[in-house]
Amino acid sequence: MSRKLLTLFIAVFLLSSVVPGIAQSEERTRIIFDTDFVMPPHDDSMALMLALQSPEIEILGITTVAGNDSVERATSDVLRMLEIAQQAEIPVYRGADMPLVHEKSDFAVREYGRWYSNEHPPVPPGGYADKKAEAESAVSFMVKTVLENPGDITLVAIGPLTNVAQAIRTNADFAKNVKRMVIMGGAIAMLPDGSGNITPNAEFNFWVDPEAAYTTLRSGIPIDLSPLNVSRKSSLTRDWYEKIVATDTPLTRLLKDTLGKHFANEPDRIYFMYDQIAVASVIDPALVTRERLYVDVDIQHGINYGVSVGGRKLWPGAEGAGLMDVQYELDWPRFINLFIERVGNPLRGSN
Ligand code: RIB
Ligand code: CA
Repeated sequence: MSRKLLTLFIAVFLLSSVVPGIAQSEERTRIIFDTDFVMPPHDDSMALMLALQSPEIEILGITTVAGNDSVERATSDVLRMLEIAQQAEIPVYRGADMPLVHEKSDFAVREYGRWYSNEHPPVPPGGYADKKAEAESAVSFMVKTVLENPGDITLVAIGPLTNVAQAIRTNADFAKNVKRMVIMGGAIAMLPDGSGNITPNAEFNFWVDPEAAYTTLRSGIPIDLSPLNVSRKSSLTRDWYEKIVATDTPLTRLLKDTLGKHFANEPDRIYFMYDQIAVASVIDPALVTRERLYVDVDIQHGINYGVSVGGRKLWPGAEGAGLMDVQYELDWPRFINLFIERVGNPLRGSN
């Protein structure tokens, strides 16, 4: 190589390493995606679509948990989704099949959610996946990955926190080495729109496993909480749905076949985008407004079982509660346009 060419080569290399956007991409957020996954119209599946289609995020593994339905259903559906999204190389780890303490009850059976179910998972769209879950457990994968990458891993948890609480309890170094957690869960009564969605004051994910939520929120892990307050600032209507499916990709086809039916039967229906907001807040933290609050969870088996309580100062009984960022406002137009763009783009996995 001539001296001139060598000098030019070195100059371009040095420039590209200091000026963002020339040759190197921004650093990606490395995440473990913990989910009570069910195919669309469920929010977990649309949250995963958004994560898979976003270059800002690198998914190191997906861990499943019982919540919306059984852990077997979560695992079967997420394996199939990865095939549809052409990202079958992402490993999937089966997690907890029941909450730490909470048992099936008549109320649980009557109300939303089939976390206690032991039925065989139904056939997902396009058939059961060829891809299999890893033999390693979700908790083992979480602990190993976090300890091998101290201070680098973000946990995105959009279901009951059973796997995370087990990881915290299994290894005393786990919590100290998690970079950050983004959690969809809870409802904060002192902020607007803070009532519950499964009992008068409890949010579903925290109510399914209150003891796990209590352990996680008190673990010392830096937390960005995405509760119902911010979910309720979203409103997926048929008009927005039609914009999402305006392009033709395997993901939008899946949405047409599943979510589309619901809008056809009930055109005025509105969906909250719970888990999608949690993921979007990782991609672009400025999409949501936060307040720093102490948040704790009631684990007494009374009328407030699973209720999260937030306050600006500690109050009697909440000694030891975690101080965290709590999302309560959403820039809806920017959020929904990000979602439309990412999910409508050609599959990243096919590049
Ligand atoms: O309360 C909302 C949460 O429970 C979301 O994670 C959603 O998936 C539902 O199951
Ligand atoms: Ca969920």
